[in-house]
Amino acid sequence: MTSDTTTSPSQGAHGIGTTLAHVGRDPHAHHGFVNTPIYRGSTVLFRTLDQLEGAMCVNTRTGPFVYGLMGHPNSRELETMLARLDGGVGAVVVGSGLAAVSVPLLAFLSAGDHLLMTDSCYGPSRHICTSVLARMGVETTFYDPRAGASIEALLRPKTRVVFLESPGSLSFEVQDVPAIARVCRNRGVTTIIDNTWATPLHFRPIEHGIDVVIHALTKYQSGNSDILLGGVVARDESTWVQLKQTAEAHGHYAHPDDCMQCLRGMRSLEVRLARHESSALAVARWLESRSEVAQVLHPALPSHPDHAIWSRDFRGSSGLFGCVLRPHVGGRAHLKAFLESLRLFGMGFSWGGFESLVVASDIRASRQAAPWTHDGALLRFQIGLEDPRDLISDLTAAFAHAATVV
Ligand SMILES: Cc1ncc(COP(=O)(O)O)c(C=O)c1O
Repeated sequence: MTSDTTTSPSQGAHGIGTTLAHVGRDPHAHHGFVNTPIYRGSTVLFRTLDQLEGAMCVNTRTGPFVYGLMGHPNSRELETMLARLDGGVGAVVVGSGLAAVSVPLLAFLSAGDHLLMTDSCYGPSRHICTSVLARMGVETTFYDPRAGASIEALLRPKTRVVFLESPGSLSFEVQDVPAIARVCRNRGVTTIIDNTWATPLHFRPIEHGIDVVIHALTKYQSGNSDILLGGVVARDESTWVQLKQTAEAHGHYAHPDDCMQCLRGMRSLEVRLARHESSALAVARWLESRSEVAQVLHPALPSHPDHAIWSRDFRGSSGLFGCVLRPHVGGRAHLKAFLESLRLFGMGFSWGGFESLVVASDIRASRQAAPWTHDGALLRFQIGLEDPRDLISDLTAAFAHAATVV
């Protein structure tokens, strides 16, 4: 288990809640107002030529601001918070979680390189590999998310990056991150992980040897389903420079309003995540008792095949999990009746907001290394901040309604 603190050289070790409340703001630089005002702007003015030229040569993480695209006070404060939570040297914020996936791939891969991508990855991450990267001349091999140290056998002389997502956000395999990171570190291969499910509160990949951590800040950090934003955290300085230069070269930008909204959401992240976690566990345990359900895919349940790895490495779980319905229940007509009669669960993509969601997916065609062999429909639940008893009642009624459909 990782520790419940973040460490800053100037402040010593603090509990997560304290870090979330205090990092990324400086009231007395803003007339005492608790939150930093929103700095909208492209142009930054300099009084002298020396100042302008000097600003062009400094690190854009700590030096003077140069141009809105390269960072502004609101992005810098959010990046400070992200780096602190993950224990990295710095972060880069970009306009969506998907941009946070593409920037590190483009930063560390060139024509002729080989990429190992987990077969459990988020669909659009797979698409980047088969479209943009393929066109660039980067070859991707999808690997079994449960490979662990045996991933070594898949490494080639040209393998530059191993990409992880743990747990997979549709299929929920938990990866042996320390084992994979150890192999890659020994072979000089960069490791990148999509850590959106756990957030740094429940899993800190850099402590387990990972080089680059991705967060779709659209989800739990923002917490309200009202913005899109992504963040990438770097383990060391040269990694951060490579990420920042790539993001700038592609014109990536995180709007100050969105950075402010995200940081606002993060102040209450610990409290919200605890509620998502406990409610999701209540609903997941209830689903396990239902005859309509073949399997619940929640890493924190002892029935999950990777529960031991999850218990070893994670501090907690979140509000997202899956379940496979029994084949006769998951037929199209039953599924349609079940999903459309839910009153409290919205049907739609994304997750991490205050409201509960459900989506049905079919991942059988996309899997390459670890075939998906379940016959029944695959559902993914995002459990929001509602009363879990109401959610269970809603699901009970929907199962009852679906059972009436011939
Ligand atoms: C695991 C994971 N990573 C990244 C993303 C992309 O985030 P965004 O929707 O902000 O582009 C998502 C979106 O659902 C996701 O589920």
